[in-house]
Amino acid sequence: MTRNKITIVGAGFVGATTAHWLAERELGDIVLLDIPATETMPKGKALDLEEAGPVLGYDTRITGTTDYADTKDSDIVVVTAGAARKPGMSREDLVGINQKIITEVAHNVGATSPNAIVIVVTNPLDTMAYLAYTILSKHYGFTKQRVVGQAGVLDSARMRTFIARELGVSVRNTHAFVLGGHGDEMVPLVRYSTVAGIPITELLPPDRIAAIVQRTRQGGAEIVNLLKTGSAYYAPSAAVAEMAEAILKDRKMILPCSAYLEGEYGLREMFFGVPVKLGRSGIEQIIEIKLLPEEQEMLNKSAALVRSTMSALKL
Ligand code: APR
Repeated sequence: MTRNKITIVGAGFVGATTAHWLAERELGDIVLLDIPATETMPKGKALDLEEAGPVLGYDTRITGTTDYADTKDSDIVVVTAGAARKPGMSREDLVGINQKIITEVAHNVGATSPNAIVIVVTNPLDTMAYLAYTILSKHYGFTKQRVVGQAGVLDSARMRTFIARELGVSVRNTHAFVLGGHGDEMVPLVRYSTVAGIPITELLPPDRIAAIVQRTRQGGAEIVNLLKTGSAYYAPSAAVAEMAEAILKDRKMILPCSAYLEGEYGLREMFFGVPVKLGRSGIEQIIEIKLLPEEQEMLNKSAALVRSTMSALKL
């Protein structure tokens, strides 16, 4: 049996931690790639992680490299390359720096792994996923099914954590749906957020729900302000591992992800967080749920923020 090949571009905090979660799940062999200036760093992290295998009981092969030739014909490519936020910076502040990086990465990935499914993690997420898709579709024939952005699984995980802590229940009993752009205007859908199937609106008073929604929206900034030197990486990378597993095991899981929209939710020609079905072909379906007028209005506001960030791209 051939093993799946997963490449992670960017061997920094998010990239290396993604490799860690993926190695434990034994989803395939992992290639950790970074820029030549990092010299042997990716090799060092890869070897260190591989040497944890005997202790933890995984047989995953992990290689580090600065050469895209080693990533050839990957099944999945996770893109974490780019600068992370520092305190006081918004995700949008990263456009200029990360556009150059994502452009270079997309061309290299398209040329070496033309059949891969690409998971974009670099911020500002929806804008960078759009940029990567624009290059990959135009020059390398990628369909919109094969480029997906990671945001909603993370934002929903944050909301689930807050719900579980508030009610003193297991996180496993919680379900949350956070849609929209991965920014301060994201839309936590309270009506569809449940504990053991019961909507949280029946379990918590409005002011507590409002506090959870607000903390979810600010979830990334909360971590940035605590870390001071970078942004979150444990939960973001766990979210990537969940998406990679849904794809490689063809689970057909419904997860909130950033997808290229062509009229769904009244939006087009942009990446935006919506519920999708993830399977071996990538985004196999975009699920349109009926929204209340005030929810649609929040979604439109979030879309306007993504569009204003996209307008900073120099295409
Ligand atoms: N090709 C490959 N790797 C690159 C490139 C490039 N062109 N440019 C930068 N990198 C690498 C850096 O060398 C670094 O090792 O990307 C890595 C980024 O790692 P960190 O600085 O640790 O940042 P991290 O916390 O991992 O965040 C990465 O994910 O969540 C987002 O907002 C976050 O955009 C940021 C990204």
